[in-house]
Amino acid sequence: RLDVTETFHGISFPGHLHTQDSLQQALEFQFRDTDILIVSYPKSGTTWMQEIVTLVSNKGNPHISQTIPNWTRAPWLEQYYFAAMLKASSNTPRLFTTHLPHHLLGPALQGSKARVIFVSRNPKDVAVSYYHFHKLANFLPETGSFEQFVNQFLDGTLHYGSWFDHIKGWTSQAADLNLLHITYEEMSMDLKGAIRKVSCLLQCPLLEEEVSSCMKHCSFNCMKDNRMINYSLIPDEILDHSKGCFMRKGQIGDWKNMFTKEQNQHFESVYRSKMQGCSLEFVWE
Ligand code: PPS
Repeated sequence: RLDVTETFHGISFPGHLHTQDSLQQALEFQFRDTDILIVSYPKSGTTWMQEIVTLVSNKGNPHISQTIPNWTRAPWLEQYYFAAMLKASSNTPRLFTTHLPHHLLGPALQGSKARVIFVSRNPKDVAVSYYHFHKLANFLPETGSFEQFVNQFLDGTLHYGSWFDHIKGWTSQAADLNLLHITYEEMSMDLKGAIRKVSCLLQCPLLEEEVSSCMKHCSFNCMKDNRMINYSLIPDEILDHSKGCFMRKGQIGDWKNMFTKEQNQHFESVYRSKMQGCSLEFVWE
């Protein structure tokens, strides 16, 4: 069955992609100082950043991003196929992705100079994107109503755990890591600036026309048509393409089309209490 759950350290993960061993191996992973790790809570701009890093590393040339699926060029540390991918790849620098929270993965990164790109997104849009994704992903549990889903999001009981723990964990430990924090909203409003930041972190200087090429190929429309990144290669039993697209809307503020006034008030009150003392600010619309 696709919708089995693997519970690890109290957090549920899709059993279709994770095993106890694969999760444990991620926690024990030996990072190299040259590694690049994209870290995000699901639906925060992970795939977009995978594309940006690939394009920047290739000076805007889209060949790799159009011929190799994103899960091969930037595999998730915690997923079961990771060990095999690692063995098969001789890429340097190595590029990985993870949705794990800092309290689980932080110890493996301690003392490492591995470059961490932390991608975050305003949590109302994360919840909406995640809700829609649950509809097509047969490896995620049935959602119930949007209201129930948002409550699970706020309670931190969805797969991959609490958004609040994830964001607070990674951002509060940023000073001890070689970490660049980029938001989805920043990529949306100033893609060029985001690409420049990534190029600087990767020490991969780009000419103006190389930046333009990166911008073109990681635009929503280009990515929506790129089979190596739009998840259309995933069979229907796993992602039911008749129910929607992975590359859904790609906008800031779509939450306004889903939240009722009461749901929004409840969300904000939980947000205020859980984010107390945290200075992060999000662009909401
Ligand atoms: S996952 O499953 O965790 O890897 O999902 P993730 O990639 O983090 O998030 C998916 C959302 O990111 C949107 N997306 C983009 N938006 C704008 N521009 C570009 N290029 C882009 N690429 C991906 C994608 O559409 C999902 O958001 P929603 O709001 O559902 O459209």
